[in-house]
Amino acid sequence: TARTGPAESGSGFVVVANRLPVDLERLPDGTTRWKRSPGGLVTALEPVLRNNKGAWVGWAGVPDADVDPIIEDGLELHPVPLTAQEVADYYEGFSNGTLWPLYHDVIVRPVYDRKWWAAYVTVNRRFAEATAKVAAEGATVWVQDYQLQLVPKMLRMLRPDLTIGFFLHIPFPPVELFMQMPWRTEIVEGLLGADLIGFHLPGGAQNFLYLARRLAGQPTSRGTVGVRSKLGVVQVGFRTVRVGAFPISISSAELDEHSRRRSIRERATKIRAELGNPKNILLGVDRLDYTKGIDIRLNALEELLLEERIDPAETVMIQLATPSRERVESYIQMRGDIERQVGRINGEFAQVGHPVVHYLHRPIPRDELIAFFVAADVMLVTPLRDGMNLVAKEYVACHSGLNGALVLSEFTGAAAELRQSYLCNPHDLDSVKDAIVSALEDDRDTKRRRMRSLRRQVLAHDVDRWARAFLEALAQDQVAGSALLTD
Ligand code: ADP
Ligand code: G6P
Repeated sequence: TARTGPAESGSGFVVVANRLPVDLERLPDGTTRWKRSPGGLVTALEPVLRNNKGAWVGWAGVPDADVDPIIEDGLELHPVPLTAQEVADYYEGFSNGTLWPLYHDVIVRPVYDRKWWAAYVTVNRRFAEATAKVAAEGATVWVQDYQLQLVPKMLRMLRPDLTIGFFLHIPFPPVELFMQMPWRTEIVEGLLGADLIGFHLPGGAQNFLYLARRLAGQPTSRGTVGVRSKLGVVQVGFRTVRVGAFPISISSAELDEHSRRRSIRERATKIRAELGNPKNILLGVDRLDYTKGIDIRLNALEELLLEERIDPAETVMIQLATPSRERVESYIQMRGDIERQVGRINGEFAQVGHPVVHYLHRPIPRDELIAFFVAADVMLVTPLRDGMNLVAKEYVACHSGLNGALVLSEFTGAAAELRQSYLCNPHDLDSVKDAIVSALEDDRDTKRRRMRSLRRQVLAHDVDRWARAFLEALAQDQVAGSALLTD
């Protein structure tokens, strides 16, 4: 194979993700500015990369932008350009019209389009080539998420000297669903180009091991995979690929400290006052995505109001929804449905000057968002499926006073760790309603006990621990891995 690079003085540590941590924004007057990219991947990885002084290869978030590399605070950003057609076919199409719904339990029907797949291959190759140019001899490269599953194999062919890790930030689906994918073998083989493949949960890792046997025909370990321990192994010729579970997290201590600041506390009190000092503030914070179950929590609220289990005179719900993937059909439809639902609930239950549901369709600045977390009595996290859900952990980190309660869907990765939350099944509306009522009505001591236990989990397992666990496993001796297979 032709070998590109390595650059004379490249980076020793490179993160590759579809998006850079900042998006280029084109303003109406033709000028541009950078803003923070949406989503949990950037929230989690940005602090990790800043600590490691590495390079980040990714898309700047707008089509047809020819942007030079940026070096900021020791962090190098290397933009990968996408044409408008590639944004439509690779990003909106294959990534978010095929993979996203397939990996999230086909909540929406995935579309299998050969043209989208061709664009996915082309763009993955472009990311692999850009990375090959940036990485120093023998560097560690960490490829992120479902948009780039072919990059590990492509990059290994260009640069066999690299150590390559891959982490999937979304769920890895049950085998029965994955088998729908027309290009299922190519995807499994693409991932097997990595030295270590990470998932949030052991179940995802085990699904992948089964597929590596069945689709790629490679021998694998059979034992169960642990959390940050007991890695699985796939033998690919002379190479040993390891497979493990590494639940992601947040910068817990930093957020805990931030949320205790006087300015944040004052803003939280002011938010409550601006809402008319209601007894109960319910909060939802999400990208506007159909996986998040925003419609479900609104349905639950509506029924609780109708049944008079919740009093609209003393309860307010705030839904903060960041715009997301706004040109994808399923997102357009969902937005309309949710906005109609908000209108209907307010139409039935609001008073002039006192809506029951406050809905903001925009990203909220960090300090303001933290003040909302602090102000909220009950946090509503009700996805139908979510790889992890960092919002749940952020809420917990903001409640050093042990007040507040977290309603959490069992179908999030976070539910495996946050066992003392008010767990609910989002497919069972009664279960969601009961969880909300318990979270509102349980006595103070019960809530404090639960929050203390949640905080212990979140503060002990922060994003640095996640990154360290993954990167240490990646750096481990390959031979140790192959020994596992014969166990
Ligand atoms: P996902 O990665 O699917 O978007 P996560 O819950 O894991 O879901 O991460 C979402 C991240 O985006 C969190 O850090 C959260 O604070 C942030 N976020 C979500 N909604 C908003 C919003 N309306 N304004 C600002 N930040 C938001
Ligand atoms: C999730 C995905 C990320 C993605 C983010 C925002 O967190 O796992 O890969 O970047 O959502 O979505 P977007 O399509 O705007 O990048």
